[in-house]
Amino acid sequence: MVVSQTGGTEIRHERTGLVFRPGLEGVPATQSSICDIDGLQGRLSYRGYSLDDLAVHSSFLETTYLLIWGELPTPQQFRDFEHEVQMHRRVSFRVRDMMKCFPANGHPMDALQSSAASLGLFYSRRAIDDPQYIYDAVVRLIAKIPTMVAAFQLIRKGQDPIQPRDDLAYSANFLYMLTEQEPDPLASRIFDRCLILHAEHSLNASTFSARVTASTLTDPYAVVASAVGTLAGPLHGGANEDVLAMLEEIGTPEQADSYLESAVASKRKVMGFGHREYKVKDPRAVILQSLAEELFARFGHDELYDVAHALETAAAIRLGPKGIYPNVDFYSGLVYRKLGIPRDLFTPVFAISRVAGWLAHWREQLGANRIFRPSQIYTGTSMRHWVPADERVNAAGA
Ligand code: CMC
Repeated sequence: MVVSQTGGTEIRHERTGLVFRPGLEGVPATQSSICDIDGLQGRLSYRGYSLDDLAVHSSFLETTYLLIWGELPTPQQFRDFEHEVQMHRRVSFRVRDMMKCFPANGHPMDALQSSAASLGLFYSRRAIDDPQYIYDAVVRLIAKIPTMVAAFQLIRKGQDPIQPRDDLAYSANFLYMLTEQEPDPLASRIFDRCLILHAEHSLNASTFSARVTASTLTDPYAVVASAVGTLAGPLHGGANEDVLAMLEEIGTPEQADSYLESAVASKRKVMGFGHREYKVKDPRAVILQSLAEELFARFGHDELYDVAHALETAAAIRLGPKGIYPNVDFYSGLVYRKLGIPRDLFTPVFAISRVAGWLAHWREQLGANRIFRPSQIYTGTSMRHWVPADERVNAAGA
């Protein structure tokens, strides 16, 4: 035996004394001044500004500027940034043509990962410490990711993507490119607030992935593409899709308790619940729930909201004592559904927003870079003698 259990989830390697914590729980992997989470009080701040304030007073683009450059922009800085982003929303016809070759039934997150990576082919890798290169890459990624998400939606329906509209603000323009209709101002504002809420969340899996990729000094398009791939998983950003499937499966508020009982009994995860950092309800879920209610009051109720509410009430009793409460993904799908966003675009919409956080971490990583190269605890066999092919017996594997 080379490893021993030290209690909890730690595993100690006897020869080296190294301690392994699965999932790196509680292990700081970087220092960061971007986002702070108080998981016991349910508080979240970006660069020292509370999420509650940002969701009310800021816009997604302004929050993006704050995250990436550390300070709120002056009016002139904001106008310049907004203008630059607006000028770079279009994507090359080559990218659109490439997307037309994607299978229409492929997942939009896979389409986004491929198209984000393809941007690296168009914008050559210059000195990665050149501030102009960094600024241009930020502008391009923030500007083009929504266009690519909307483009794939139309392409897979057999239509040509529509061009961005320069007279529409960031969020309104995305909803326009997606639905081909100019959105209601309230819908645009609520969508913009959703983007603020999802923009950053410290060292979650996709951001960690972004930082690891950034630490090799590769280009920012590869950084974002690797993060998109990580966000796609059902334990991370992909959970928002699964929440709606689960609510539909439950069907009625009356069935929420029995669903929960059977999930707990069979140790099945309840989607949209639980978080490594929070032991209370995720503050983003609190705001998203109120946004859902605001939307329903204006555009009509959604019965799945009643199911969600009943599930949350039942879960407070069964899961609450373990510190398991709704996370950001629990109510976001209900908001997106009311905004007319198809279910398999929920996670790409998450990516549109989270690219701001990934880029903030990319910059921060470059500012004090050391390549990530953790250790491992080897659990394989000790040294063996080579066995010629005709002497092998009981060979394992396929
Ligand atoms: N439903 C039921 N039990 C749960 C849940 C849940 N959603 N989440 C955690 N638990 C239980 C789990 O069964 C385990 O119990 P026990 O100690 O008795 O075996 C304990 O809580 C610890 O769970 P864990 O999976 O070790 O916790 P983790 O910190 O590794 O995982 C998580 C965090 C978010 C992956 C997990 O809570 C989960 O899988 N939730 C469901 C998927 C989900 O909603 N993901 C979105 C996460 S938030 C947004 C994002 O990151 O994109």
